[in-house]
Amino acid sequence: MQFKTFLTAAAIAGLASAQSNDTTPSLAAALNSTSDLSSLNTLLGQNPDILNTLANATNITIFAPSNSAFESILNSPDVQALQADGTVAALLTYHVLNGTVYAENITSTPTFAHTLLSNETYSTVTGGQVVGVRLVNGTDGGNVTVISGFGQRSNVVTANVNVTNGVVHIIDQVLTIPGNVSSTALAANLTALAGALQATNLTDTLDTTPDITVFAPTNAAFEDIGSALANLTVEQASAILGYHVINGTVAYSSLLSNGSSVDTLAGPPVNITIEDGEVFVNSARVIAADILVSGGVVHVIDSVLNPNSTLTPNPDEDEPAVAYSGASSGAVPYTSGITAPTATTYSNLASTTDAVAEGYTAAPSDALNSASESAATGASSTSSAGAAMPTGAIGAAALFGGAAWLANL
Ligand SMILES: *[C@@H]1O[C@H](CO)[C@@H](O)[C@H](O)[C@H]1NC(C)=O
Ligand SMILES: *[C@@H]1O[C@H](CO)[C@@H](O)[C@H](O)[C@H]1NC(C)=O
Ligand SMILES: *[C@@H]1O[C@H](CO)[C@@H](O)[C@H](O)[C@H]1NC(C)=O
Ligand SMILES: *[C@@H]1O[C@H](CO)[C@@H](O)[C@H](O)[C@H]1NC(C)=O
Ligand SMILES: *[C@@H]1O[C@H](CO)[C@@H](O)[C@H](O)[C@H]1NC(C)=O
Ligand SMILES: *[C@@H]1O[C@H](CO)[C@@H](O)[C@H](O)[C@H]1NC(C)=O
Ligand SMILES: *[C@@H]1O[C@H](CO)[C@@H](O)[C@H](O)[C@H]1NC(C)=O
Ligand SMILES: *[C@@H]1O[C@H](CO)[C@@H](O)[C@H](O)[C@H]1NC(C)=O
Ligand SMILES: *[C@@H]1O[C@H](CO)[C@@H](O)[C@H](O)[C@H]1NC(C)=O
Ligand SMILES: *[C@@H]1O[C@H](CO)[C@@H](O)[C@H](O)[C@H]1NC(C)=O
Ligand SMILES: *[C@@H]1O[C@H](CO)[C@@H](O)[C@H](O)[C@H]1NC(C)=O
Ligand SMILES: *[C@@H]1O[C@H](CO)[C@@H](O)[C@H](O)[C@H]1NC(C)=O
Repeated sequence: MQFKTFLTAAAIAGLASAQSNDTTPSLAAALNSTSDLSSLNTLLGQNPDILNTLANATNITIFAPSNSAFESILNSPDVQALQADGTVAALLTYHVLNGTVYAENITSTPTFAHTLLSNETYSTVTGGQVVGVRLVNGTDGGNVTVISGFGQRSNVVTANVNVTNGVVHIIDQVLTIPGNVSSTALAANLTALAGALQATNLTDTLDTTPDITVFAPTNAAFEDIGSALANLTVEQASAILGYHVINGTVAYSSLLSNGSSVDTLAGPPVNITIEDGEVFVNSARVIAADILVSGGVVHVIDSVLNPNSTLTPNPDEDEPAVAYSGASSGAVPYTSGITAPTATTYSNLASTTDAVAEGYTAAPSDALNSASESAATGASSTSSAGAAMPTGAIGAAALFGGAAWLANL
């Protein structure tokens, strides 16, 4: 089985006893005796309410950042401020799954599991914000990868540390709390989309609506139909953008199925096609899947959707389909004044296509208290008046994007 490497690595100093059934340690004891988790232990010590919650919880999975994962963050002068405003507490709860997930239960199909982060300042996803977990390079030994906000990918370096109330997996990068749609679009260099949302006054709606899926066209996609966009009224542009949004369902890649048809915010449905390992929304190809945002998920597509087009996908054609007949390439009218990101922030989001195809092939595992279950129940989100909305947390959340993200800010 692929996980031999992790299980061997787990036999690190201080954890030997944790591996024996008789002496499964409490969470607190395991943290105390695991040298590579001393930073996390310190941080939890400064947040006794969280530690208490975790110690009293049952059946949890903790993705525990190693000392090196925390290194740059803990030395940051901003940590005091983030402690004070509650961001550290939010970040810690984002590392905990409600449900016990052992490494051998994680497959190449990504599963999206709810975490204990349900504070509406940071997430409006019903049931709590999620992380994605999947096995990458499984035929080659494999790494369990945890997908978090802004395209962050963290690898499990030591798996299956049993504690009395669950299991701990040590990860090499701190998870990133997902940002809202507009900040994520900017970080992903989707500046035309970000500008179009501003021009149509839809930014706040998408940033604060719970449980949404956004199909996000690239800048090139907007450019391809520049002539068609040049003369749109705000109402027409709004209708087109609304056709890119599913309201009330967070459609992670593993939840979309071939041949399904999903209603959009604008009304008419989009058709999902999965063919030859590729995923299409109408005739548009998904080129980056499962970018988590505070209210749901974003999938990047290679062309702008048209509610009036009957074009069907062509998997043999690499060039993006153009769903606006007669449109020609031209300047994007929405990008003036929109600041493009640095190459570094973009690189995390640039290439996640490998996750797309496999993501659609199998149902998520029940064991994960999977996001599909709450989506299926259609539970409505509780939203209390006056609750802070996820817009405020973004700067701080971005700060926690692991060493690579941070070092280059
Ligand atoms: C951890 O706990 C699980 C479930 O109880 C058990 O199957 C597994 O053998 C345990 N692992 C170790 C190393 O003790
Ligand atoms: C410990 O072992 C006993 C039997 O030897 C088993 O019944 C029990 O479930 C095990 N507990 C854990 C946590 O693995
Ligand atoms: C962990 O260490 C702290 C201080 O070092 C101590 O107060 C606490 O009792 C320890 N907890 C366990 C479960 O060993
Ligand atoms: C956790 O359990 C301890 C006793 O074991 C109790 O004092 C504390 O109030 C509990 N905390 C929570 C958040 O339930
Ligand atoms: C914890 O998980 C075990 C095994 O899946 C299950 O039998 C038990 O009911 C769960 N406990 C709680 C409190 O959810
Ligand atoms: C939610 O987060 C905000 C900002 O960090 C904090 O002020 C508030 O107390 C948190 N709410 C709860 C219920 O923890
Ligand atoms: C954890 O999941 C169980 C169902 O599996 C649910 O009853 C419980 O309320 C959840 N706890 C939290 C803190 O979300
Ligand atoms: C998790 O993995 C264990 C060991 O391979 C297996 O027995 C169990 O059925 C799996 N659970 C789920 C829900 O897939
Ligand atoms: C998968 O393998 C490729 C090529 O060896 C490597 O570049 C990539 O980092 C690996 N992915 C993970 C998540 O380990
Ligand atoms: C697993 O990830 C590590 C870096 O975190 C990398 O060095 C290693 O090559 C990866 N293994 C595979 C099989 O992709
Ligand atoms: C923008 O939308 C908000 C509600 O989302 C509304 O209050 C405001 O009047 C709108 N502004 C314009 C210029 O349409
Ligand atoms: C962002 O997109 C523009 C095209 O719209 C491109 O010129 C630029 O190189 C991209 N930036 C990055 C960091 O890829």
